[in-house]
Amino acid sequence: MIEPISQFESRKKEHIALALKDENEARGHSGLDQVQLIHEALPDLNFSEIQLQAKVLGKKRKTPFLVSSMTAGHAGAVDLNLLMAKACEARGWLMGVGSQRRELFDLEAKSEWKSLRLAAPNVALLSNIGLTQLIVATNDQIQELIDSIEAEALIVHLNPLQECLQNEGTPNFKGALQRIAEIVKSVKVPVVVKETGCGFSSQTLKRLTETGIAVVDVSGFGGTHWGRIEGQREQNSALKMQASETFSHWGISTTQSLLNASEFQSSYEIWASGGIRTGLDAAKALSLGAACVGFAKPILQAALNGEERLNQQMETLEFELKTAMFCTGCMNTATLKEKRRI
Ligand SMILES: Cc1cc2nc3c(=O)[nH]c(=O)nc-3n(C[C@H](O)[C@H](O)[C@H](O)COP(=O)(O)O)c2cc1C
Repeated sequence: MIEPISQFESRKKEHIALALKDENEARGHSGLDQVQLIHEALPDLNFSEIQLQAKVLGKKRKTPFLVSSMTAGHAGAVDLNLLMAKACEARGWLMGVGSQRRELFDLEAKSEWKSLRLAAPNVALLSNIGLTQLIVATNDQIQELIDSIEAEALIVHLNPLQECLQNEGTPNFKGALQRIAEIVKSVKVPVVVKETGCGFSSQTLKRLTETGIAVVDVSGFGGTHWGRIEGQREQNSALKMQASETFSHWGISTTQSLLNASEFQSSYEIWASGGIRTGLDAAKALSLGAACVGFAKPILQAALNGEERLNQQMETLEFELKTAMFCTGCMNTATLKEKRRI
């Protein structure tokens, strides 16, 4: 059954409001506090020459940073997306758009993306669709989502816990691995598979090597937690509320997910997200093998406070990464990998 557009829009607004609440974040659980970079008291470097450039999706980028996919699909999100896209374009960050699910049943949704492209013609955008929609959509429909924003890649998001806990959820992932392999062959851009805050086990990462995907973004436990958010939305269902409480610590930490993924670096690129809150967290994730690091909640929070605050936040994250690089004696992001200590 197709959800009415008004209901769909109000769900998306609710998601944003709940994502901003502290209790819906698994703060302190990303495992990054236990990762220590080795301090270098005598770096043979000039801070001003430190290079943030990184190779992501086969291209040289100004930074290894990504605004992780966040909610689209309601009128208020248009301005927010425009703001984020312009900032990403100016600073050379990649930007994942929120789920394009609405485009599958509402043709008007496409016009939102047209204005985004006009405002930021050179930003590297990444399409986004949930696995459960991918399973039922046609290959042509998925290619249209990609074309509508001229995306550089397609992100398929996995959210089994959220699908179980939300009333509108469709917890049916049957045949998913094969469907991912099919879409990899069918679309004209690389495919990224990401979680949404619960991370990846070694076994799942191994299964994904059979699909031909280009990237896994681990999006591990330690940041925004959809189990917690959905529980708060289902206040009229004692069953869902209770289950949400039970699963409030469910997931594999971002650090553990990155360690699990290090084994598969020759099969696909590894990206880090989930509870990355500072440029130092990002430096640690890069040292654990990530080629790109994504932020969702910290960017949402800043963007909701306007352009100046958003730019401040992005600049702070870049400055903190550079500081971590200076204090570990790393001239570029690639050398960070040798500087880890757990
Ligand atoms: C308001 C909001 C909406 C989100 N919507 C999507 C989405 O549509 N597709 C997706 O792949 N991930 C979505 N996410 C998940 C993020 O991309 C990210 O994986 C997760 O929030 C963990 O990152 P964080 O701890 O930095 O917030 C959303 C996150 C937030 C906060």
